[in-house]
This record gives sequence, structure tokens and C-alpha cells, in this order.
Amino acid sequence: MTTHAHQESLTPAEHRAYWEDRYSGEHMWSGNPNGPLVEALTVRPVVGETALDLGCGTGADAIWLAQHGLRVTGVDIADAALRQAAEAASSAGVADRIEWARADLDDWEPDRTWDLVLASFLHSPAVSDRAPLLDRVREWVAPGGELIVLSHLRAPEWREPHDMHLPSLREIEKCLGRPGWSVESAGETVTDMPSPEGAPGTRVDTLVRVRRAAS
Ligand SMILES: C[S@@+](CC[C@H](N)C(=O)[O-])C[C@H]1O[C@@H](n2cnc3c(N)ncnc32)[C@H](O)[C@@H]1O
Repeated sequence: MTTHAHQESLTPAEHRAYWEDRYSGEHMWSGNPNGPLVEALTVRPVVGETALDLGCGTGADAIWLAQHGLRVTGVDIADAALRQAAEAASSAGVADRIEWARADLDDWEPDRTWDLVLASFLHSPAVSDRAPLLDRVREWVAPGGELIVLSHLRAPEWREPHDMHLPSLREIEKCLGRPGWSVESAGETVTDMPSPEGAPGTRVDTLVRVRRAAS
């Protein structure tokens, strides 16, 4: 994600407009599912049938999950992102397995739970601390289900550092590892990310999987 001016003081309407604007131009992401997530779920697949993708953007992770047998709900603050996501799901032949919902997660209150809840790079220049949201998200995970949080930790060397707080692995583990939850895995992942001009670079992310007790 490129660096943008820090936007801590945005109202909810401005926050939405910020993301609508970012998605209104050229396609922002690669269209491929996130590598560290695919790797983690290939080693240990999801147990269950349903998944919720928080801040799903243009839908690549949601589509990958649907292609692997899950019924998926993808939520994002930006309609413009969801339009691209729906188009990509149709092209991939999984439109009937994914429901897209436009909502601001900061006040969204779903009335159901999912076997997997995923937050892939749910970063925003407007929000420095995702802990309050992750606290609410816990309730959206079905008993026995899991929550996966994939976060950026360090931008590639050729790119300016992110202009927002990026939580350390310890911070995320501390936030997610509560009574009634077990940390199934927590680690840093390194992904090759050369610059558009071909200069070498690596990005460091964190991936934490926690499971809710079955009852
Ligand atoms: C860095 S992008 C990541 C997109 C996607 N998960 C991925 O990994 O490619 C962050 C996404 O979160 C969404 N987002 C940020 N704040 C949100 C909020 N409060 N409610 C819903 N979506 C939000 C943005 O619109 C954006 O699509």
C-alpha cells in the first residue's frame, strides 16, 4: 500500500469517501490472494463452511476461500471496491458462493457468526489502533471457529515506511490471546516485493491464527 498523508481525524463519512476515492482509479491490488494467507491455509485448512472477510477490498482472498469450498461474506467500506470484487467473483465462477456487504466495520453489528473470520491488511491511515474493532470481531467467530489477522509490519526497502501504526507480533498476540481463545500460530512472513523498476525488496508481515473454544 502506498503512503498517504495521516488521516487520523476523519469523520466516518470522510473515511468512506477516502476509500471510495482510492478505489475509483486504476485497480489497486494485484487481484491475487494474499500469499501468507494461502500458505497458512494450505498447511492447515479451515475447519467449517463459512468465512467472513473484513475489509475485503477487491475480493481476492474471499474468492480464493470460495474456490476452496467456503461460503463467504465480504465486507468493505467502499462500494467501488465491492463492485470490482463482484466482477472478479463472476469471472472466477464463484459469484453464487459470496455475498458482498457494504458497511463501516466500526459500527457494523452482524446478527450471525462465521467459522472463519479474516482480517487481511485491515489497515487504514484513519485508524491507528485496530484493537477495539478486533475485540468486537471476536463475537463474530462461531464457537470452535478461528480468527486470522494478517498485518503489515515493514514495507519493502525501496518504499517509504507506512504512515500509520503497524502493530508488532507481540501486540497482536496480546490483543487476540484472551481466555477462551488459543493462539494456534503466530509468526512473521517475508515476501519478495521488487519495486516497479525491478529493485529488489522484501515486505515483512505478521500472521496470527487464534481459535475460539468450542463451548
Ligand atoms: C489495505 S486494504 C486491504 C484489502 C484486502 N483485504 C487485501 O488484503 O487486499 C484495507 C481495506 O479495508 C477497508 N476498510 C478500511 N476501514 C474499514 C472500515 N472501517 N470498514 C470496512 N472496511 C474498511 C478498505 O476499504 C480497504 O479495502
